[in-house]
Amino acid sequence: MVFLRETTIKDVDLLFGWANDSAVRENLFTAEQIPYDEHLLWHRHVLKDESIFQYILVDGGVPIGQIRLNPDGESATMNYGISAKRRGKAYGHLILQLVTDEVRANHLGIIALKVLVKDGNVVSVKLLESEGYRLTDLHYYLKNVSGEDGPLSSTCAIPNANN
Ligand SMILES: CC(C)(COP(=O)(O)OP(=O)(O)OC[C@H]1O[C@@H](n2cnc3c(N)ncnc32)[C@H](O)[C@@H]1OP(=O)(O)O)[C@@H](O)C(=O)NCCC(=O)NCCS
Repeated sequence: MVFLRETTIKDVDLLFGWANDSAVRENLFTAEQIPYDEHLLWHRHVLKDESIFQYILVDGGVPIGQIRLNPDGESATMNYGISAKRRGKAYGHLILQLVTDEVRANHLGIIALKVLVKDGNVVSVKLLESEGYRLTDLHYYLKNVSGEDGPLSSTCAIPNANN
């Protein structure tokens, strides 16, 4: 069974390993390795902050990857990654599809999902484009997940965002 579950304090070490994975660091705009103490503070902050949502993708009881939503008005910026040994098996597609379902079911105020992609992250670009995200500006890929064809508000409006 494949599903998203919310992160807990018990995920601190799992997420620490994933956060310091070399491909993850390379594809972030801050590439330095994260010290454990800093990660622990950050993880506690994410759990405490009710405006941030973070999920683990689980398949057959095995943690596969993480996705985090930082809502800002009608849109939410996402950060995600799949465990190094599970990449290339379509889990990237699955995590984006499941988070869209989650937003449609439980975060009705969010009508657009955005991802900031660093130059050279060809796999993430391929994944996002095939999931209907479109490049806006400043490396942001965006998708309207509201199910409506109407224009997005000025905070996230782009041409062709409704695919
Ligand atoms: C980006 C990432 C989440 C993609 O997840 P994934 O499970 O490996 O991706 P998928 O298997 O679902 O494949 C997505 C697409 O990329 C393609 N792809 C996968 N690995 C690839 C590779 N090494 N080279 C080229 N294309 C690749 C797949 O064929 C698929 O293409 P399709 O949409 O035409 O079917 C994963 O590589 C990752 O965690 N990377 C490090 C962290 C990161 O970059 N996060 C995103 C920040 S914006």
